[in-house]
Amino acid sequence: MSTKAKFQAIRGTRDLLPPDTALWNRVEQTAREVFSTYGFGEIRPPIFEPTELFSRAVGGDTDIVSKEMYTFVDRTEKLERSPTIGKLGVFIERVKALYETGEIPRIPDNELAIERAQAKWKTVEALLERGQGMKEDLEDMYLLTILIDAMKLGLDVSLRPEATASVCRAYIEHNMQQMPQPVKLYYMGPMFRRERPQKGRYRQFYQIGAEILGGPDAPAIDAELIEMLMTFFDKCGLQGTELNINSIGHAADNCRRGYVAKLREELLKVKDKLGADSQRRIETNPLRVLDSKLEHEQAIIATLPRIADHLCDECKTHYAAVKRELEVRGVIYRENWRLVRGLDYYMRTTFEITAQGLGSQNAVCGGGRYDGLVELLGGPPTKGIGFAIGEDRLILSLQEGGKAPAAQGPDVFIAWMGQNAYATAIRAAKNLRNAGFRVELPATELKFGKALERASKLGSRFALILGDNEIQSGEWTLKNLATSEQQKLSEQALLNYLKSL
Ligand code: HAM
Repeated sequence: MSTKAKFQAIRGTRDLLPPDTALWNRVEQTAREVFSTYGFGEIRPPIFEPTELFSRAVGGDTDIVSKEMYTFVDRTEKLERSPTIGKLGVFIERVKALYETGEIPRIPDNELAIERAQAKWKTVEALLERGQGMKEDLEDMYLLTILIDAMKLGLDVSLRPEATASVCRAYIEHNMQQMPQPVKLYYMGPMFRRERPQKGRYRQFYQIGAEILGGPDAPAIDAELIEMLMTFFDKCGLQGTELNINSIGHAADNCRRGYVAKLREELLKVKDKLGADSQRRIETNPLRVLDSKLEHEQAIIATLPRIADHLCDECKTHYAAVKRELEVRGVIYRENWRLVRGLDYYMRTTFEITAQGLGSQNAVCGGGRYDGLVELLGGPPTKGIGFAIGEDRLILSLQEGGKAPAAQGPDVFIAWMGQNAYATAIRAAKNLRNAGFRVELPATELKFGKALERASKLGSRFALILGDNEIQSGEWTLKNLATSEQQKLSEQALLNYLKSL
């Protein structure tokens, strides 16, 4: 027996396997079809980006950026991995040169570490020349290695926790503001967040998202995007969906900022009755208190001031128009004043969709408007709105609702017997597959009984029996495995028959 340790997928990640992957493919195909009818094209951004992109876009104080990102230094390949003590002087000089050309991030921490390392190296070099090994000398060397360890010897990058920031980065990088506006893009793929894994919550999960960038901030854009989303869910056969909407206004004293100040004031009055998380959020981000799921906080939250009563006139008008536009489109929604979302870039319209069969992680989609994000990332003033669907949760909900397609077995299992029949079996398999049929051709000869048994186990519809008799007569035997009926057909007649079904 092998004594080698086995590997397992890392906590919070998982393999998606057949037959489940058939449902994943169907959902993704449906998204492509629906989104393209609304004029969206696909974008495939990279899976890692500079950490700074996410911290600036999503917000440094959010859970995503402060706790959940997979971040690492993409160390430049121009530096030796583990220089020996004697080569540290050259190593530090090289770090300095790379710092000056910007190949190592030009951040104050690096500048300071390089300066100190150079000074420390001078002492260590002198000690090495003297050839003594006192305790203090060791300490100097130790301090030098700590300084080198603290340097960021490459770009600080993160696995993407979401893709809106990347899409905005791409919009700016490719000058998309010069294209006809708005630009409509969709994406699908893995995202990474170091959250506590549970049903519907993974560390590598998948999103299908769409973004509209540029053009006006007309409420019809918000409503059409939501209409597209609901059409997609409908086409997937998702049951028990509930669309929650809200407006969180914009960052101005007479709008959200004023509301947040008022909210903080009220929260301070009831601080003692709140849990530790909410108490902390009174300072960091009072809006997030509204997200609390803690039982004992619910009654308190119900009494807090509501943002709808504090929106400025423009935001109020925009929100009313979005609701009207949704009604015109026959989209059913529920207003939820507590829907604030966990990313910093939102303004005005926010929305979330929940579905059945998911337990506590029941949000299958979240999105909202983010005018100003492109500008925050160094681009021109640009309107933006979008959403991301949690594909893992969508699949779970479809499976719970019995919407998973049945696993598909082969159409034809070729039971060949004897070397004479083998060449014909290969040709038959190729021709049938060319015609689009799913064909299973056993790689080794099987006894007749075994072949039929395997064909049934695989769920095949037909067995094509090819033995000496069939090769000699040119009449092949096709057995319907559900009815056990058999018929003799020429190669062409067999193809025609299967196509006619
Ligand atoms: P989000 O609300 O952070 O928004 O994520 C959107 C959806 O991704 C969630 O509703 C959920 O279904 C799914 N999701 C999030 N975290 C996990 C996880 N750990 N495991 C499984 N599913 C998860 C965004 O990401 C924004 N970028 C959406 C957006 C696009 N807003 C504007 N444009």
